[in-house]
Amino acid sequence: MASSPDARRQPPAPNLPWVPASWTMRLVAAALWLGLVMVATGYKEDPCVYEALVDEDTGLCKGLEVLYPELGNVGCMVIPKCNNFRKKITRWTEPLVKFPGASEGAKYILVMVDPDAPSRLNPKARFWRHWLVADIKGSDIKKGRVQGQELTAYLPPNPPVDTGFHRYQFFLYHQEEKFIFLLPKENTSRGSWKMDSFVTRYQLKEPVASTQFKTQNVQEL
Ligand SMILES: *[C@@H]1O[C@H](CO)[C@@H](O)[C@H](O)[C@H]1NC(C)=O
Repeated sequence: MASSPDARRQPPAPNLPWVPASWTMRLVAAALWLGLVMVATGYKEDPCVYEALVDEDTGLCKGLEVLYPELGNVGCMVIPKCNNFRKKITRWTEPLVKFPGASEGAKYILVMVDPDAPSRLNPKARFWRHWLVADIKGSDIKKGRVQGQELTAYLPPNPPVDTGFHRYQFFLYHQEEKFIFLLPKENTSRGSWKMDSFVTRYQLKEPVASTQFKTQNVQEL
């Protein structure tokens, strides 16, 4: 049955009060696009935010790379919350630490410490020694291999709950002395390490490279 011209005429679109039609269309298009993006990226209310350190926390960003699985170089960044990274980093074994500027024939000492023990606001157990390796060859650290005399075994970052963000600092020193060791009283505890005394004892001067990253306990918001 042939339809009359009248039947084919669409009723006028019900305009929303105060919202011009073109705006309604744009809003609908934007909502559809956002939906598509969320589906395509598997968005689950936990977007991966890779945040760089800012301001006073960037002072140590000098030539050192710290590489963990999945994350890559975490030097001068905040460990993201997504993908359970803040939990994973408490379980991973030692990272690769790379100093591309190393001299092939030189020897180096690597220090990893937490200056924020038990918290940045009240660091009465500074420094917490996480890792200390001496006799690292320049040719190794150039490629990220931390091989040498391990004076303190690697302890992953594990900030206690309710102590805020902790910094994990890495310092690479040029080693001139032949024999490097910890005093027995230094070796009995990781906490309250007088790092300055160690640096002075072996005349380590300024680090040749350094970096740091921040993370906090997974149970914190
Ligand atoms: C004490 O020394 C041993 C041997 O060098 C080392 O494996 C261990 O990690 C040290 N302990 C601490 C707390 O530094």
